Amino acid sequence: MQIIDTIPLRHSVRSFLDKPIHPAKAAQLQYVIDGCNRDFGTHIQLVLGDPEVFAKKKPFQNAVNYIALVGSKKRDPQEALGYCGQMLVLKAQAIGLNTCWVAGSYRKGKVKAAIGKGEKLYAVIALGYGENPGKLHKERPMEKRMKAPQPAPDWFLNGMDAAMLAPTALHKQNFVFTLEEDDRVKLKSKGVCKKLNAGILKYHFELGAGKESFQWAK
Ligand SMILES: Cc1cc2nc3c(=O)[nH]c(=O)nc-3n(C[C@H](O)[C@H](O)[C@H](O)COP(=O)(O)O)c2cc1C
Repeated sequence: MQIIDTIPLRHSVRSFLDKPIHPAKAAQLQYVIDGCNRDFGTHIQLVLGDPEVFAKKKPFQNAVNYIALVGSKKRDPQEALGYCGQMLVLKAQAIGLNTCWVAGSYRKGKVKAAIGKGEKLYAVIALGYGENPGKLHKERPMEKRMKAPQPAPDWFLNGMDAAMLAPTALHKQNFVFTLEEDDRVKLKSKGVCKKLNAGILKYHFELGAGKESFQWAK
């Protein structure tokens, strides 16, 4: 399955089957993690079979695997962690796993990841074989999340369609994509987890629009 085809299929899943992740699937995720850590200077880690982090955290059930999003304390890595985290979420979806981003409802102190001096844990992504595939989040009007001259080009609208299906913290979708001159696109992301959300949204927008169609505005 192509990564772009996973976008409409992905939904947050919080209940998992009591079934260990197949080693071949873990290896595929590890490969993407290694690439992200190399390219973005992050310290993302895959932790399998740890029942502590989501114990007694409703509505999570059988959530024992997670991706720990660790990065530098100083050089704010949150947008990169959002971008890489969503790359991993869609990769997981493509290989038959389900996921849920978690910035709040987990026991942070129990996370079994190496967090070096000068590093910080920003969020985790729970993953496993979902009890069900999850369901589509409530649609919100796309027109309020974009500013573009009319008619907007197809690539921009395709990017928006993909962004509207991205997960955001508390499903706030507090963002606006603006099409500026010379095919430059600016993303304004506000509110809770705005920087993680920005990375997630940019990854989706790039997949929908095609990286070659535009450039990010500074
Ligand atoms: C940065 C971020 C943090 C999140 N934190 C939590 C969390 O702490 N607990 C939780 O149950 N869901 C969390 N979510 C999942 C969102 O609630 C979910 O993505 C949103 O409701 C949209 O639903 P969908 O992912 O099924 O499209 C988080 C999502 C994001 C992007």
